[in-house]
Amino acid sequence: MIYLDNAATSWPKPETVYQAISNFLKEKGGNPGRGSHSMASAAMEIIEETRNLISGFINSPDPNRIIFTLNCTDALNLALKGLLRSGDHVIISPFEHNSVIRPLNKLSRTGVEISKIYPTNDKGIVSPENIKKAIKKNTKLIVITHASNVTGVIQPIEEYGKIARTNDLILLVDAAQTIGKYPIDVQKSSIDLLAFSGHKGLFGPPGTGILYIGERVDLDTIREGGTGSQSEVEEQPSILPDRYESGTPNTLGICGLGAGVKFILSEGLEKIKMHGQHLIRKLIEGLSNINTISIYTPKKSSDIVPILSFNIKGYTPGEVGIILDQAFDIKVRAGLHCAALAHKALGTYPQGTVRLSPGYFNTSDEIDSTIMAIEKIAKNSSINC
Ligand code: ALA
Repeated sequence: MIYLDNAATSWPKPETVYQAISNFLKEKGGNPGRGSHSMASAAMEIIEETRNLISGFINSPDPNRIIFTLNCTDALNLALKGLLRSGDHVIISPFEHNSVIRPLNKLSRTGVEISKIYPTNDKGIVSPENIKKAIKKNTKLIVITHASNVTGVIQPIEEYGKIARTNDLILLVDAAQTIGKYPIDVQKSSIDLLAFSGHKGLFGPPGTGILYIGERVDLDTIREGGTGSQSEVEEQPSILPDRYESGTPNTLGICGLGAGVKFILSEGLEKIKMHGQHLIRKLIEGLSNINTISIYTPKKSSDIVPILSFNIKGYTPGEVGIILDQAFDIKVRAGLHCAALAHKALGTYPQGTVRLSPGYFNTSDEIDSTIMAIEKIAKNSSINC
């Protein structure tokens, strides 16, 4: 079996992640902050250790600004709904995922205005100049996906950060596809809000997400409840991270996530990044030689994460996905990838594309086998489903 769907969720996880989750559940499974017994304290220690690890990983000025959420979508909902009010204007890129588009469309019904920036340049980059031009008197926020989950192209967030600071705007970056694969420094890039999942590049289990909330942002809550702190008070505590973390957290997931981040730190982010680049460039090169294939990662793109979208003439993306799975045991994602806006920008709406997203545990040989399989499909060889 060849798993090439790491943009959806990474698999397999490092061995240490499985061990950490199992040990936690067997030995430390108390409820963090809810009681002072040793099991509750052990759970709290794991949560805070993971918070500290993530804080260091993105160079947050304060670990308490790292908020654990259900997933990246939940983090983006908190950022958007906690910040935007009627009359505010938001600028977004054409590559935003439904996790940005759908909450924003709901907010637009309450008077939030949205501008989408088109087109991108031949490297797939959203032009900083076009963002500047879109700024209006009531603009409050710029939302940019760091790398599209369809094309993999990495956007120059540092440049957008400068624009946001110069114009007193907030910059929200969706790092679902870059965290753990590409370095991110929230201070260096002037990022005010950074949303990401824990189960993709960070190797944690599903059900883990994070929102970094910078010092320039005061978000309202979208969920209130028990925090294990200030229990005598009927209002939501204002201290961080408790203000945004109500209810029993996903201790198990956060424990696995901590082990995932430790794995990245021990392997080295640069090594992980280089491996991903090697695999994706090899795929692009291999598939570019097949003349019935269209590739949607711009040829001139300089910085990409390991994501590649393509189509084969004569097949729907869904058909290719099924053949790869059933005839070759290769797992890919086909369709719109919850990012219809990106497909509209690429001209691949409504069918979408076939997406390959290798991960750290994929090998060069697996990439060779994948290229051969796709070549066979493209040549319409006799394939036994
Ligand atoms: N957003 C994830 C993907 O691109 C699930 O597949």
